[in-house]
Amino acid sequence: MIDEPLVEKATEFVRQVFSDDASGHDAHHTLRVYRLARRIATEEGADAGIVSLAALLHDVDDHKISPETHATLARARAFMEEQGLSADEVDQVLVAIREVSFSENGDRPPSSPEAACVRDADRLDAIGAIGIARAFAFGGAHGRSMHNPDADDASTTISHFHDKLLLLADMMCTDAGRRLAKGRDATLRRFLDDFMAEWDGLR
Ligand code: ADP
Ligand code: NI
Repeated sequence: MIDEPLVEKATEFVRQVFSDDASGHDAHHTLRVYRLARRIATEEGADAGIVSLAALLHDVDDHKISPETHATLARARAFMEEQGLSADEVDQVLVAIREVSFSENGDRPPSSPEAACVRDADRLDAIGAIGIARAFAFGGAHGRSMHNPDADDASTTISHFHDKLLLLADMMCTDAGRRLAKGRDATLRRFLDDFMAEWDGLR
């Protein structure tokens, strides 16, 4: 049974895991994904316990944080086994975690409503006001330019908007995700429009 005290413990575990990460995978990203995924789950009628754990544990085996456990999701699995979850619950959470990743799943439909909720929540956190802030934080941390009108490669943060962020709204899997993505996508487009106008001295 995944009850609230267990969700509390998972939250504590995540805070420890991400205590010193600066790659854009901090505990706050995880907690935002958790809140959003719970909200989407209510609308979708998905299992709140599975969604909560999958959201909280979705990045603990990320290849940037824990490359040695990425393939097996060993950290998420070990946490759940220590907490005495049934094999079936552990499997459902691990499937949902595996199906979050953009690079590994792209547009392939998730295999459960729970996986759909977590995937949409993770992708929503990459767009809207928070998504813009994360993209420039990532760019700064990786020494990337904001923008370079002379380069048409993927080397700047603005190019990341075109290569990935502007595609995400069309890739939502739930009705709630689609609705939330609409507002966030409009925020991205308004920002890009302002950015370009200011770049050119027009606004
Ligand atoms: P996730 O693991 O959540 O699928 P990533 O690890 O790809 O996402 O990215 C984490 C955050 O960093 C996201 O907000 C993403 O938009 C941003 N990001 C990733 N790659 C770039 C890039 N090349 N330029 C700017 N931001 C990036
Ligand atoms: Ni994530």
